[in-house]
Amino acid sequence: MGATGREIVDLDVSALLTDLRRAYLMELQTFYSYWLTAIVAEGWHGHELAEEFKKEALEELGHAERLATRMLELGGDPVVDPGDWAAGAGGPWTAPRRDRSDADGMVTDQIRGEAAAIRHYSAIAKMVLGKDPVTYHLVAGLLADEVGHEEHLENLVAGRHGATRGGQRAKRGGRPAKRGAKRASRR
Ligand SMILES: [Fe+2]
Ligand SMILES: [Fe+2]
Repeated sequence: MGATGREIVDLDVSALLTDLRRAYLMELQTFYSYWLTAIVAEGWHGHELAEEFKKEALEELGHAERLATRMLELGGDPVVDPGDWAAGAGGPWTAPRRDRSDADGMVTDQIRGEAAAIRHYSAIAKMVLGKDPVTYHLVAGLLADEVGHEEHLENLVAGRHGATRGGQRAKRGGRPAKRGAKRASRR
């Protein structure tokens, strides 16, 4: 970032970089979690989950990239040894469930991860409000994405149970839940 760009940041940049680093590592971890779960999930539920989670994985990787770019602008360094990801992340590592056919359980686990991301971005947004408009713009966008992810996953579980009660729709290849119009409009 140029000298003027740094000058207008009216807070402790090193503290901000610490929080952005935690967010960045959380995103890398979340990307890996969605990506890996998409690969190992089994059964027809697992097939459905794979399609959903592949899309989520790419969105989370995009978040990591945007955070890395902002860290560089602020004079930070996004290069982190993978062995240090979990310890430095601002959210939990979510491993795929041992029961690879437990689609509902794996979605529920990811909802907890999204909730952690929402809390982390909400805290950063409050910290930079009025002090660093560029970072605020970034984290407000990320926060909106994570709110959408949580809502989408909750609807996915609710839709799946609705489909189960409604009969064999899913076995015919139907999708119990669709990505919400609100989410689609952001893309
Ligand atoms: Fe994210
Ligand atoms: Fe997310």
